[in-house]
Amino acid sequence: MTVVPEEILTICRKRMEPFDCEGFVNGRGPLDPILMIVGEAPGETEIHNGIPFSGRAGKVLDEWFRYVGVGREDIYFTSAVRSRPFKRVDKKRKDGRVERKWVNRAPNMKEQFAHAAILDYELAHVRPKQVVTLGNIGLQRLVGRKYSISSVHGTSIRTKLKCLKDYERREWGETEGEYSLFPTFHPASIFYNRSLEKDIYRDLDKLRQILSDKGVF
Ligand code: URA
Repeated sequence: MTVVPEEILTICRKRMEPFDCEGFVNGRGPLDPILMIVGEAPGETEIHNGIPFSGRAGKVLDEWFRYVGVGREDIYFTSAVRSRPFKRVDKKRKDGRVERKWVNRAPNMKEQFAHAAILDYELAHVRPKQVVTLGNIGLQRLVGRKYSISSVHGTSIRTKLKCLKDYERREWGETEGEYSLFPTFHPASIFYNRSLEKDIYRDLDKLRQILSDKGVF
């Protein structure tokens, strides 16, 4: 279950109110897990059942970590934003009628800032052996724009992480300590680009080796 105190959750929920985001899903998992997964934001399925990564992308993630040899019970799941960012899309159908949909979108910087205290708290208290970021949003929330997923996926980065310095003045700072980061692609990326799968499984082989070197297996 989440480790984040109710007062932090309340402030963050309030800060998200001005934005087009719905629902709220707590981070989930044990303290001292093998992995902490940092994704982007929950989707529709997660908003309805409250379980992180329980939708289509979550099924892919389950396959990945079965391959690595780490079960859900050894993973803490969280993301840059804990609500679902949406946008309106109007699609004109053949019969001329307009179909209106509210689709997922990536959280912007203001939204990431609104929920930043949640992820900061989780990083400070969950104590994973390895942090794994999924996609550019998870990666850049923690290290800024100096890295992009296409250039650093599958590498282990020992680094301080981006965290709130001054919540009121909206300033970002850095953690005191360093963390072990392993970026890979977001599981939803293979829905648009199947050919990424080869790279991803190479990343997962490296992750297994890193965990083995840390004495996890
Ligand atoms: N993507 C995320 O980042 N989190 C979820 O819970 C689902 C999809």
